[in-house]
Amino acid sequence: MSSAPAFAAGQGGVALPRHVAIIMDGNGRWAKRRHLPRVAGHRAGVEAVRKVSRAARALGIEALTLYAFSSENWRRPEEEVGDLMGLLRLFIRSDLAELVRENVRLRVIGDYRRFPHDVVALIDDAIARTSGNSGPILAIALNYGAQAELVEATRRIAARVAAGETDATVIDAAMIEAELETRALPPLDLLIRTSGEHRLSNFLLWQAAYAELLFVDTLWPDFDAEAFGVAIEDFGRRQRRFGGL
Ligand code: IPE
Ligand code: IPE
Ligand code: MG
Repeated sequence: MSSAPAFAAGQGGVALPRHVAIIMDGNGRWAKRRHLPRVAGHRAGVEAVRKVSRAARALGIEALTLYAFSSENWRRPEEEVGDLMGLLRLFIRSDLAELVRENVRLRVIGDYRRFPHDVVALIDDAIARTSGNSGPILAIALNYGAQAELVEATRRIAARVAAGETDATVIDAAMIEAELETRALPPLDLLIRTSGEHRLSNFLLWQAAYAELLFVDTLWPDFDAEAFGVAIEDFGRRQRRFGGL
């Protein structure tokens, strides 16, 4: 399954993205429309995570990065933050076996060590248990913020310059990229945001430099395998130029 389709071309010869990232937005509005508490939207959002990650695997996408909790989401009421932590616990407990079986490599980007201790332990265990796998990467962004990621990268490079290990004049894009949390992932090809908002909300700012952007009105809990397939088809019709002709 992991060795499936050539990554340059999907079914029917349409270009397939190697790395897709999604800003999973709209859970709260989905719940509100149904006169349900926001947590019900987050619960339904977890089901969409399952559907979409399965669809990505079936299509042969190498890496899927999902924005689950931003470094700004701490601004939400404590109760909602607690609900999100609870759902993360449930998701790992219920879905880890499938990820292991499906040869998925689970990764986390973001400072998840600020999460409750038991959640950090669950995440570390889940990463370790899939680390021997060789298939597609499922990267979850937890307490992730692109600006903090770039600040950290800058600090590490500056420290090496201060220590005399490198020179400021040799700093280049590749050196910065090697310090980003996405360094082991393929280049970002497609960035999707659901729920009709047209902003990046501090997600993958560096990596999005030449990614194709797709904004859809669908609320995240309604985004499914079919919607993901439509997004992949849309990507296949894009003409990428990277500044050339
Ligand atoms: C996205 O849905 C999930 C997270 C940010 C954790 P929201 O909770 O932001 O839903 P809306 O934007 O309020 O509808
Ligand atoms: C972005 O959604 C973060 C996640 C999807 C995890 P938000 O709902 O937090 O973004 P803003 O606040 O509308 O920009
Ligand atoms: Mg939102």
